[in-house]
Amino acid sequence: MKPLRIVVLGGTGFVGSHLVPRLHADGHSIRVLSRNRDRKRELGVLPRVRVDNCDVHDRAALARKLEGADAAINLVGILNERGSDGSGFQQAHVALTESLIAACKTAGAPRLLQMSALRAGEGSSHYLRTRAEAEARVRNSGLAWTIFRPSVIFGRGDGLFTRFAALLAMAPILPLARPSARFAPVHVGDVSEAFARALVHPHSIGHTYELFGPRTIELKPLVQWTAQLMGLKRAVIGLPDALGYLQACVGEWLPGKPISRDNFRSLLIDSVGTRDGLGELGIVATPMELIVPALLTKAPR
Ligand SMILES: NC(=O)c1ccc[n+]([C@@H]2O[C@H](COP(=O)([O-])OP(=O)(O)OC[C@H]3O[C@@H](n4cnc5c(N)ncnc54)[C@H](OP(=O)(O)O)[C@@H]3O)[C@@H](O)[C@H]2O)c1
Repeated sequence: MKPLRIVVLGGTGFVGSHLVPRLHADGHSIRVLSRNRDRKRELGVLPRVRVDNCDVHDRAALARKLEGADAAINLVGILNERGSDGSGFQQAHVALTESLIAACKTAGAPRLLQMSALRAGEGSSHYLRTRAEAEARVRNSGLAWTIFRPSVIFGRGDGLFTRFAALLAMAPILPLARPSARFAPVHVGDVSEAFARALVHPHSIGHTYELFGPRTIELKPLVQWTAQLMGLKRAVIGLPDALGYLQACVGEWLPGKPISRDNFRSLLIDSVGTRDGLGELGIVATPMELIVPALLTKAPR
């Protein structure tokens, strides 16, 4: 396999911290662009990984970083914006993707791997709407593109089990909006493997891969399972939608926005897929039962 020069946007986060070492193991050279490289300097200890400061919203700066690159990977995504009118999602998902496409063309970088989300474009959340708009830009880009649509992703450092574990450790009672929302959690190692394989397989060009795990689970049993694995007795109380929406309204004003109205609207759409993208790439999905118990032994109690 010919080693590639890859530029990764959003590579300092949870997925990037697994994907970048996976790509490095294939012999590729990786440049991770960050708005603040000090946040994830440790990625740069790998010999062929560089973490560079870059204003990724600046097309000219992006194009300079992409000179000589064979491929760009866009992992940038947000679950919450500063206000609530959708402009933050528009900027982070759509405008940034437009800038990246323009920069790839200026720099002559031919390949683009775009992270999206399952059920993009469905329902009324700004999150899923802007995901689909970004996908449309990628499909019309003229670049050699591949799109990935994962369900919720689990693994070391995730925002799912790790986050609920922290909440459960603090609170004896956990009121939960959208308790029957359904997910098919997918392992971050499988997501990374999908990117690594797609990158070097020409048949993945022009394809959209849904990435989901072998088991579909509702939110409330998922949180109850988390508590059980931690050995905690907790009351997880599913809220009816009227109360769940109220919780989301209040949550928007709390530090760190634990839940927002846009999150609530996203949760109205089950994060489950229909086409096994992992299988299409020859990957057998990892059951969460194999990974999560070990993750939670390190969670705060
Ligand atoms: N985790 C999941 O369960 C899940 C499920 C479905 C889809 N996804 C998607 O997968 C991608 C990676 O997820 P993740 O969990 O690794 O996310 P993450 O941990 O939040 O990392 C995303 C990275 O994007 C950069 N970023 C954030 N906001 C930005 C903005 N406004 N402008 C420019 N850069 C920004 C940040 O890098 P710097 O601060 O270094 O610039 C951050 O490290 C995202 O697109 C996410 O929506 C994730």
